[in-house]
Amino acid sequence: MATLAVYPGSFDPLTNGHVDIIARGARLFDRIVVAILVNREKSPLFSIAERVEIAREVFKDMPTVEVDTFNGLLVDYVDRRRAQVIVRGLRAVSDFELEFQMALMNQRLNDRIETVFMMPAEQYTYISSRLIKEVFSLGGAVHGLVPDLVEQRLREKVSGLLNKDQGRRTT
Ligand code: PNS
Repeated sequence: MATLAVYPGSFDPLTNGHVDIIARGARLFDRIVVAILVNREKSPLFSIAERVEIAREVFKDMPTVEVDTFNGLLVDYVDRRRAQVIVRGLRAVSDFELEFQMALMNQRLNDRIETVFMMPAEQYTYISSRLIKEVFSLGGAVHGLVPDLVEQRLREKVSGLLNKDQGRRTT
């Protein structure tokens, strides 16, 4: 039987740490679905449509990687997709507690679904979407930490926000 894995997350934005985990997952499983959670953060930087578009573009040459969105309980989505595995990345011990809780809760909710933890390459262990947004918004370089497309979209976002702000000030 083909093994389908779901890699869930917010991906706001997609980082090279995520990309690394997805590439590793794609080697391990027959198919891997990057499942973007809808409606969690009230004010995400990138809309769901933007996050889907970015991820589809980044993985366009990897036919076994699919990009989708989900709402509600993760285990219900995984069940609906008839997937067997949830993939989560573990960067450091600090990730462990929350991930452990989520994995056990998901196991209690649906014992047929296994959570598999994967480690990203060492150079990505300190990257998080939150830090990327903070560093970029304060003028720091994020080159090499996110896909080039994400870097470009971050630049466009910031210049869009600046233009809007300038428009407001002149009117
Ligand atoms: O990228 P993130 O924010 O670490 O991803 C967290 C995510 C989306 C995996 C988690 O919040 C989730 O599964 N949310 C869906 C709702 C749910 O099933 N909650 C119970 C999880 S134990």
